Amino acid sequence: MPVYLDHAATTPMREEVLVAYLEHLRAVGNPSSVHRFGQDVRNVLEAARESLASSIGCNRSEVIFTSGGTESDNLAVKGLYWQRRVEDANRKIIVTAATEHHGVLDPIFWLEQHQGAEVALIPVDRNGVFDLGWLQQFVEQRGQEIALISLMWVNNETGVIANIEKITQIAGLAGIPVHSDAVAAFGHIPVNFAESGLAAMSVTAHKVGGPVGVGALVVGRQVKLVSLTHGGGQERGMRSGTMDAAGASAFALAAQISVSELPARQSKMAALSQQLISGVYGIAPDAVFSRGEALGLAETVHFAFDGCSSDSLIFLLDAAGVSVSAGSACTAGVNRPSHVLLAMGRTEAEANGVLRITLGHNTSESCVAAFLSAFPQAYAAAKKAGLASK
Ligand SMILES: Cc1ncc(COP(=O)(O)O)c(C=O)c1O
Repeated sequence: MPVYLDHAATTPMREEVLVAYLEHLRAVGNPSSVHRFGQDVRNVLEAARESLASSIGCNRSEVIFTSGGTESDNLAVKGLYWQRRVEDANRKIIVTAATEHHGVLDPIFWLEQHQGAEVALIPVDRNGVFDLGWLQQFVEQRGQEIALISLMWVNNETGVIANIEKITQIAGLAGIPVHSDAVAAFGHIPVNFAESGLAAMSVTAHKVGGPVGVGALVVGRQVKLVSLTHGGGQERGMRSGTMDAAGASAFALAAQISVSELPARQSKMAALSQQLISGVYGIAPDAVFSRGEALGLAETVHFAFDGCSSDSLIFLLDAAGVSVSAGSACTAGVNRPSHVLLAMGRTEAEANGVLRITLGHNTSESCVAAFLSAFPQAYAAAKKAGLASK
């Protein structure tokens, strides 16, 4: 039985979620219709909104259902930028980090190329930690020109955790809205939207054991943004289109399970990742743990291996029955060094020889043992191939 250790790319749907999802998929009715079929589906949708809001720590009216993290990121970045420019044409700056997911980076660079935005990148240290001293100074100097700040809560490649409360505190001095991509954070660390000070936050179902193709943008009650889609005016006019009640309800259930299990899962993840990390060092003593001593998710174990290529390692491990990745699945398949590692000041060679091993709700000790038994041979072969290609 192959072992799956790529939960940060997507994690399996839980059985109880699948059962509930299938049941709701059978229902017919558009939640905007006034007849009983429509209203029954509307009730399912609104119950999901209520439940998800309680898992996220926000008001139910703040949950805008979308098709996933990428759409939520696009809606937040473009929608906030357009809204802020309408209010004051001088606010052109978007502050972000080069370590962000492409779901955030690409719309921001699109706005730079096509809509007059100016991009300011927060410096990031070798462990992937944002330089908040720089942010404070930049906000003090140019706060009136900043349209928005978008910084992720947890990095999906290295697992490093950002200090979101401090970021919103700094932004608050100049009344700047902050968006955070919390796709890798929600359900993995405690996340409370109301306490975070954020204006908007992206989440997605398939990282917490829900279906692919469902997500939400949490938008503060006072926050306005321009919609990407124009049509029926659903979801506070921010996301027109018929809502996916079955998907929303499966997302809400998966989120509720993930959040309620969080304390127990965190200690299990810490123990498993410790075994994994010390096992890797035992085999490859010169491996570099990518986030160093910085605070990070236990379930995300990311290493750089000098002289090995990520592709060789992944291929050899997969052939031995263990599936891991090098980083974001959204850019995988394209043979490029990780933009996250490059932004952290690593060389191309370093960024080319990485492995991301991510644990999930169904990971057991035997999965870690399977990795550690396949790794020595894969590592030796990848190293040999690396030396031969020099
Ligand atoms: C940090 C982060 N943001 C956004 C996304 C995109 O989410 P989705 O696949 O739901 O579009 C991902 C998915 O890998 C992610 O890890």
